[in-house]
Amino acid sequence: SIIVPSVQEMVKEKMITTVPPRYVRSNLDDNSEVADDSGLITKIPVIDMKRLCSSTAMDSDSELVNHEIDPSFLDKVKLEIQDFFNLPMEEKKFFWQQPNDMEGFGQAFVVSEDQKLDWADLFFFIVQPIQLRKPHLFPKLPLPFRDTLEMYSAQVKRIAKILIAKMAKALQMEPAEVEETFGDDMFQSMRMNYYPPCPEPNQVIGLTPHSDAVGLTILLQVNDVEGLQIKKDGKWVFVKPLSNAFIVNVGDVLEIITNGTYKSIEHRAVVNSEKERLSIATFHNPGLNKEISPAKSLLEKQKKAANFRSLITKDYLKGLFSREIYRKGYLDAMR
Ligand code: SIN
Ligand code: FE2
Repeated sequence: SIIVPSVQEMVKEKMITTVPPRYVRSNLDDNSEVADDSGLITKIPVIDMKRLCSSTAMDSDSELVNHEIDPSFLDKVKLEIQDFFNLPMEEKKFFWQQPNDMEGFGQAFVVSEDQKLDWADLFFFIVQPIQLRKPHLFPKLPLPFRDTLEMYSAQVKRIAKILIAKMAKALQMEPAEVEETFGDDMFQSMRMNYYPPCPEPNQVIGLTPHSDAVGLTILLQVNDVEGLQIKKDGKWVFVKPLSNAFIVNVGDVLEIITNGTYKSIEHRAVVNSEKERLSIATFHNPGLNKEISPAKSLLEKQKKAANFRSLITKDYLKGLFSREIYRKGYLDAMR
């Protein structure tokens, strides 16, 4: 990708009152489609991890409670993420994206100088498998942040595994097949998002609409500011964060594996004029040498043909990291 400036620094340094042209979106009609507020919270299903065993179905965007991660540990994660973004630029610059690398501080999938930019800084990096960690990123994170993230990674991965297994069970997929695909060798990456306040919030987008090109995303709101929206029945709907709940998104890869039964969810982030907003998304994919394809046990049960072709995770990721594919494009390429 192309190296982009820090929006956080821009907002901090200059008392800007208007948005620079590179961030202004001309086509934000979508804003008029935001659903009104009444009763929206009830539209996002809440998964109670304790009761999950008896439940049979899950939606493509849900909030997860009773996940058994200590709330005080989550507070620590949140605080340290904020501290990390608040580090001076002299320290953060070592973590900045390099040309043609998606990892590090910057933005996702910026491929040309005239492409519109998001009103956010993000920090993206691979966590698992360990041998894919970029030496200048995760291993160089300051302590205790690095240790905190290491622990967070393990706990979130455990939850992702359980959720995927339960979702597969609901579809009567063969447990062994799921365990094989999403085993301990799962591919895991993280993205922390920082959305500064914006003097003209309706002119910009915090994060361009997209679906996650992964299996399952587990998202944590780092502070209590809302901004995440999902597209439901053609309208943008705010996801109101429940305190200490995770937001769970089905990604494209899970749509492929379930042969389209679980749909990946289109979402975006919007910003506001007063408050900064932070979040951390943890992405889970099958192990690098595993196959991404509609599950065989599912096709047999459903007596259906595969709606997607198959690809080894490694190659899927290679395509994803090297091409300008984002925004729904990838799933279509797999049909
Ligand atoms: C994401 O799509 O990864 C982040 C959305 C958010 O900031 O809530
Ligand atoms: Fe996302």
